[in-house]
Amino acid sequence: MFAHFLSQRIVRPLNRFVAYTSRIAPGNFTPIIPTRRYRDEFTDLAVALNQMSKDLQEQQTILVETHKLRALGTLTAGVAHELNNPVNNILLTAQLLKEDYHDLPDSERLEMVDDVVDQAERCERIVSNLLDFARESEASIQPLDLGGLVQETVKLAQNQIRLTGVKLEVGVQNNLPRIHGDAKQLVQVFLNLLLNALDATPRDGRIEMSAESNGDERFVSVRVSDTGRGIPPHLLASIFDPFFTTKHRGDGKSGGTGLGLSVSQGIVARHGGTITVTSAVGFGSIFTVHLPVTTIPARL
Ligand SMILES: Nc1ncnc2c1ncn2[C@@H]1O[C@H](COP(=O)(O)OP(=O)(O)OP(=O)(O)O)[C@@H](O)[C@H]1O
Ligand SMILES: [Mg+2]
Repeated sequence: MFAHFLSQRIVRPLNRFVAYTSRIAPGNFTPIIPTRRYRDEFTDLAVALNQMSKDLQEQQTILVETHKLRALGTLTAGVAHELNNPVNNILLTAQLLKEDYHDLPDSERLEMVDDVVDQAERCERIVSNLLDFARESEASIQPLDLGGLVQETVKLAQNQIRLTGVKLEVGVQNNLPRIHGDAKQLVQVFLNLLLNALDATPRDGRIEMSAESNGDERFVSVRVSDTGRGIPPHLLASIFDPFFTTKHRGDGKSGGTGLGLSVSQGIVARHGGTITVTSAVGFGSIFTVHLPVTTIPARL
């Protein structure tokens, strides 16, 4: 008799509550409906659990929002920083040009205007990088010569290469098979890799950039290798995450947006390719972009 009472009144509801908790844990916050006609300890427990669910749900919403805000904050801070440099340079150069205009030879004026154009293009790149991140901008697919894209990339990074003093070697294999893709987007990928290599490599370091077909004839690859500081194994899994950056300025704020690799990976994936990386701390890193060779006629 007592055993029956125990099972009816206590064990059964307890089991029900165990079931409730395993439903709440993964995030099902539907309130518990008390099954008793009269109020007892279990009703109180149900009320307490419902309150807990409600609080948990609110906490979770706040967490998601905070996370989004933090991502947005990182993004905004990064963009502000990235844009700040070229905009300052443009301003400075333009002011100098205005002040000294009459004393300067034509060649130097032209050089300064070129500089302004370069820097403005850099701003444009940063903004388009962001747009790529926010939405997939429409790609214009064409038959492409990878070697040409590599040369173009090197030209775009010429200023930074000069500034860092790093030695850059470019090697493009002859008669590479063509690929299909969006030239602008792919140049952006190669530029991101090159800029990363430049960031990681000391003055006396070396960077190699090459376009080649190695072994597998279905793919051609662009390789950027540096003799920089390398990437510790425990960070390798994170470097393609959006906003992941180790480039922090002295004041603790982020110096990179951490968007470079994630945007690049997205672009390469849309081209049917992959990016692989090998790295050794203290020795350097090798990033390789593998892109599928086009087998359809170029005119299609
Ligand atoms: N060649 C490299 N050598 C060493 N570390 C690298 C290299 N390339 C990338 N990394 C690491 O991966 C991180 C993420 O790179 P990613 O290009 O996504 O962002 P970022 O360079 O920090 O910022 P941004 O590209 O916006 O300037 C870098 O902060 C760096 O720690
Ligand atoms: Mg980068």
